[in-house]
Amino acid sequence: MTTALITGATSGIGAAFARRLAHDGHNLVLVARDEKRLHRQATELHDLHGIEASVLSADLATEEGIATVEERLGDRKHPVDLLVNNAGFGNKGEYLDVPMDDELAMLKVHCEAVLRLTTAAVRGMRERRRGGVVNVASVAAFVPRGTYGASKAWVVQFTQGAARDLADSGVRLMALCPGFVRTEFHQRAGMGTDNIPGWMWLDADKLVDAAMKDLARGRSLSIPDPRYKALMGAAKLAPRGMLGGLTSRTGRKFGPK
Ligand SMILES: NC(=O)c1ccc[n+]([C@@H]2O[C@H](COP(=O)([O-])OP(=O)(O)OC[C@H]3O[C@@H](n4cnc5c(N)ncnc54)[C@H](OP(=O)(O)O)[C@@H]3O)[C@@H](O)[C@H]2O)c1
Repeated sequence: MTTALITGATSGIGAAFARRLAHDGHNLVLVARDEKRLHRQATELHDLHGIEASVLSADLATEEGIATVEERLGDRKHPVDLLVNNAGFGNKGEYLDVPMDDELAMLKVHCEAVLRLTTAAVRGMRERRRGGVVNVASVAAFVPRGTYGASKAWVVQFTQGAARDLADSGVRLMALCPGFVRTEFHQRAGMGTDNIPGWMWLDADKLVDAAMKDLARGRSLSIPDPRYKALMGAAKLAPRGMLGGLTSRTGRKFGPK
């Protein structure tokens, strides 16, 4: 049986990965801060699918939290075959209104944790000549979107570069770029969602199904859903100045996360 480790597993996209991977028969290591919620989820997935689910309570905005998960990923006796770096959050407001500590915490969770956990996982995977890493970015990586978009752009560039370095090693790396997904994300950040058209919302379980297909195909970038593929194609052609104007008016509060 293989083992998958998912960060931010308790809610939204991470919980959808946990459901899907448990259904497929993988043992799980579930990572987030809320320990009670982690244990409840582990019990549910074990009872439903008969898999082993262990929990690791860690705050990935801290050195200690990152080191705890790094250590688990480096445990050669209990190898992790699939890592999903999914934990993340948004900060409400325009760049200068967000407290610096919140921006730095975002960079720690979205960039430093992703770099260190990917590295810890991939070393063993390369030796075993098999394994996968899914790093959850966002379509916000492709438009000028303050620290959030910049951190997700880093996730895409880092992941695609590492995928190229590790081509032919048996290890697959993929950046996953969702559009709007119905999760706890916007509510946690205190962001309004009333003006986001219904057609723009994606379902987390369908998103994960599409991502797993793309990973199996060996893609290093996954933009699930044809509507977002088309939107991102159009964004590539639009002048950057125009996109910047659009996203600074609507995107900071309501644009794709
Ligand atoms: N929802 C969207 O529209 C959307 C779109 C594109 C990309 N994304 C990305 O998708 C990922 C998942 O977001 P989501 O929408 O599923 O949000 P969500 O429902 O709010 O879930 C976030 C998860 O991350 C965990 N988490 C947050 N901060 C953490 C920290 N410091 N340390 C450890 N775990 C932490 C949370 O658990 P605890 O609170 O218990 O720690 C929770 O399990 C994020 O990277 C986000 O940027 C979301």
